[in-house]
Amino acid sequence: MDRSYFRFKIVISVLAYLQLTTADIYLHNPRGSNNRLDEEAREVQNPNRMFDSQNNNRGGYNVGGLLYYAGSTLPIEWTNQHSCMNPNAHCELVIQYMCGDLVRDGASRGTIRTENNQCRNNDCNTDFEYGMNENFEYYQNCRYRLRNKGLFIADQNLAGNRKYARNTRQNPTGKRYGYECPEERDYYPYWEPSPWKDIVVMTNDASRCPFYQEESQNVKSRWTCVVPKNVTEKYTGKFDIPNNEADCKAFRYPKNDPNGAKALWTEIASHGIPAPDCRESQFSRDNHLGNGIGGQPLVYNWTIPNTLNHEQCVMRMRYNISTGDYDGWNTSSGNIASANEIFYKNLGFSEADAASDRGYVFEDNPEVKVFNDLGLELELAVNTAQFGRTFQDRSFIFAVRPQPSETSGKAIHNLNVRGKRGNIVEVFPSVEYDFVPNNLEAANGDYVHIQWTGSNTNNAGNDGNGQQRSDRNNIVLLNSQVYPEGNGVQFGPGAKYGHYGTNYPMHLDNSTFLGLSREDRESLAFNVPGAFGGELSQLDDSSPYFNLGIRQISQLGTFHYMCTRNNDFSNRDQKGRIMVSSTPTVYESIGWMGGQLKVADSKAWVRVERGTFSKLNTLKLKEWNSKDGENLMKSKGGAITVDNVIAVNRAKNYKQEMTVRYKICTFNIKTFGKSKMSDPEVANYIKEIVLRYDLILIQEIRDISGEALQDLWTLVNKTDSYGMTVSERLGRSSYKEQYAYFYKVRTLKLIDVHQYDDGPDDYTDWFEREPYSALFQPVHGGTETRFVVTGIHAKPDDAVAEIGYLYNVYQDTVNKWGITNIMTFGDFNADCSYAKVEELASKQFYYDNVDFHWLLDWDADTTTSQNTNCAYDRIVVSGTKLQQAVKPGSANVYQFENTLGLNYERVGFEIYVVMVQYGVDIIRSPHVEETLSNSNSCMLVLFRYYDNENICIKEASE
Ligand SMILES: *[C@@H]1O[C@H](CO)[C@@H](O)[C@H](O)[C@H]1NC(C)=O
Ligand SMILES: *[C@@H]1O[C@H](CO)[C@@H](O)[C@H](O)[C@H]1NC(C)=O
Ligand SMILES: *[C@@H]1O[C@H](CO)[C@@H](O)[C@H](O)[C@H]1NC(C)=O
Ligand SMILES: *[C@@H]1O[C@H](CO)[C@@H](O)[C@H](O)[C@H]1NC(C)=O
Repeated sequence: MDRSYFRFKIVISVLAYLQLTTADIYLHNPRGSNNRLDEEAREVQNPNRMFDSQNNNRGGYNVGGLLYYAGSTLPIEWTNQHSCMNPNAHCELVIQYMCGDLVRDGASRGTIRTENNQCRNNDCNTDFEYGMNENFEYYQNCRYRLRNKGLFIADQNLAGNRKYARNTRQNPTGKRYGYECPEERDYYPYWEPSPWKDIVVMTNDASRCPFYQEESQNVKSRWTCVVPKNVTEKYTGKFDIPNNEADCKAFRYPKNDPNGAKALWTEIASHGIPAPDCRESQFSRDNHLGNGIGGQPLVYNWTIPNTLNHEQCVMRMRYNISTGDYDGWNTSSGNIASANEIFYKNLGFSEADAASDRGYVFEDNPEVKVFNDLGLELELAVNTAQFGRTFQDRSFIFAVRPQPSETSGKAIHNLNVRGKRGNIVEVFPSVEYDFVPNNLEAANGDYVHIQWTGSNTNNAGNDGNGQQRSDRNNIVLLNSQVYPEGNGVQFGPGAKYGHYGTNYPMHLDNSTFLGLSREDRESLAFNVPGAFGGELSQLDDSSPYFNLGIRQISQLGTFHYMCTRNNDFSNRDQKGRIMVSSTPTVYESIGWMGGQLKVADSKAWVRVERGTFSKLNTLKLKEWNSKDGENLMKSKGGAITVDNVIAVNRAKNYKQEMTVRYKICTFNIKTFGKSKMSDPEVANYIKEIVLRYDLILIQEIRDISGEALQDLWTLVNKTDSYGMTVSERLGRSSYKEQYAYFYKVRTLKLIDVHQYDDGPDDYTDWFEREPYSALFQPVHGGTETRFVVTGIHAKPDDAVAEIGYLYNVYQDTVNKWGITNIMTFGDFNADCSYAKVEELASKQFYYDNVDFHWLLDWDADTTTSQNTNCAYDRIVVSGTKLQQAVKPGSANVYQFENTLGLNYERVGFEIYVVMVQYGVDIIRSPHVEETLSNSNSCMLVLFRYYDNENICIKEASE
């Protein structure tokens, strides 16, 4: 296997901050250890204990193990310091877990030993004194396996013996952290087998999601070089373990002994579980270690797989940050020179030396001369080991058990507590107490699993009530509203129990809470079981761990509750809310990748197709009773559109209407051929542009073999399925070009194509390259929604005449297909020296502004050159339906932000076409799929940010 294939995994960033205040990712629910284990000191005592966090040593909780039921929803909450979804630092977050009989927190704060003979019974795997996640053999393999030499290492010293997978740019000396493998830690997806199973990848760029999902070890096997056990057991350390097939096959021990032991290039099966979820990260601002938008915690709602059943599991969250000083995805040890060249050329230097003389070079703490004629330099805080950096936190051991049979098919909500004893300053970068989720929305009949844990050994002196150092919690309903406070805000449905504005609990004897029994309410208040007698006023004699077990919610209403010990009005607040409604409500954050929302019993779901959204949206699926739903649908004429999502009512008596937006583009790629496609950077760039559109016209295809176009097609198809149609080779002389259309097959159907013919190429014909037309029909539309695109690349010197003849082409097309909805577009060369307004004024194709809407103004610049400012490329729309369908103002030049030194002659347009369809036969939208077994109910999707807009998917009535 060619390891250079993996060079995209390199991420590079420049981060300027003080070495002392490294800080980064902290898991709060489940609690992250940050390598801590029941420690009283403020700083983690052994940051090498289990894993390399690169976090501030103040982070971490002392204990954190809980038990969860398979199928339940666990809100994973964390804080990260640097920005996500923000150009300031690109970020990727990966959450993983592993389970294993030997996976453990350990009892000592020491790091598990390097050699088996230093462990009890000569076996570190079973020496329970030490915490262990990855095992002994895994680390030994990493310790002596050669590193991936394709990785970018900046100016870090990885020479000589620093040649193993334990030596990386971020950890050049190969410092050991538990049995973690540094190379695996720093790169994702990792190419060698790993015990970690992927839960979710959250990224700045969701178009990478298909790649992550394909490459995840959840679904894809790994290859590795297996050296026989009798050799590793006796001789480990005496030989290097190869990292690729060729070297593995050539391996002999002893080396050079033809009869020596051989190694086996071995396929290790995938984990055999579904691909991880993947989506955009939530927004966070850098240097604001804390919440996301709206003050809500950063959260991923994990539905624990139903198949998981293990007493010892651990969760891990990695956080990789990088910036745009470099193209981290396309820089490797092999092309570092060219990456550097892009960097200094972009700064206006013609040579690397000139740039480096002024400090523009990737090295530690460069001193840059921002003014050439001043003798002054500015030192940058750059550390190339942290140029692209990964942080990490891991949970304590948790258990996942099968759920009891009575809850099967029902939603189970985990309700936990995060935070530790202390005030906001003392606990930082951990958090103060809070319930997780702070706002729980559940349906009557759902189950809730209330559970928390804490420590008895928090830092001495941390503020709090009750016994020093201890964490304790309880739940009691808050007192009801004492006096009216204006209109107030009534949260949630039904009756309100307890009031957020109060700090006294309700009488427990006659209060109610979720319909729980009196006994359960006592348990929640006094932590019984867990304490029996003793001093309980501040819960000191109760256990820090409490588990009520799974309970069914049987009472409607909105409940406000508190923890009596920790809620300390002016200092700390520990209150929570549970809203119980009569019908299920499901939330899902869905971005570009699409996804689905499903109610727990799977009776209904909504599917959002890939590409529907351009950013992360929180969708809420809510069931309505059929009468309310019907009234709503009637009032909206049977269909509701919110942003890109369409709801369709399947009842026959409403008019059906559907709006689909297409992005269409014309793109002249100067001299498109093999040389462009054989440069991976350029090819990838073109691919990214194609993927932006539902339909794109590509011009100036020069490659006779057709291979370049096939390669582009194959490349594009890896992300999304496109169809392609390509014209003949056109041109009067031996210089020929072709036109091609790429169209997204899930939105458009190609019905027919037509090559315009203006007679023999004898220079009396009209066109150098006769226009090429294609007839399309929206996948979800009828024949009445068809439209034609006609593409042309006009000969510059004949631009005025050729544009004039486009009128004849238009008429020819109308006659051929009987359709007036035609878009004529391409590189018309319709500006500057080739065509002027005065010259075009006599051409019907230009002056007839009823039949021909020219979408782009003359002052647009469709060239990439700095020196020209010409509107060469145009889009002209004919036919009332198509003209009305164009979203006003949507025709734009898409400016490539970074031309990568590409010599594109033109840039394209971006336009939206909105096709409106009528007719009762359309019952499916492209973006929403529905099924509902209960014809009496109606499903609605409410957009969180568009509260009044509803989408209903309803079973056909009667
Ligand atoms: C390992 O075992 C194999 C097969 O049992 C044997 O052929 C080989 O000689 C052994 N190698 C060493 C180094 O002991
Ligand atoms: C709760 O009980 C108290 C006495 O214990 C009583 O005064 C009060 O009215 C009761 N409240 C409700 C809502 O029943
Ligand atoms: C997680 O679920 C809660 C409801 O329990 C919802 O309010 C929240 O928006 C969800 N968050 C994400 C990121 O999906
Ligand atoms: C691209 O995908 C389309 C639709 O699935 C398929 O018809 C076509 O053959 C694919 N082309 C290539 C080159 O893979």
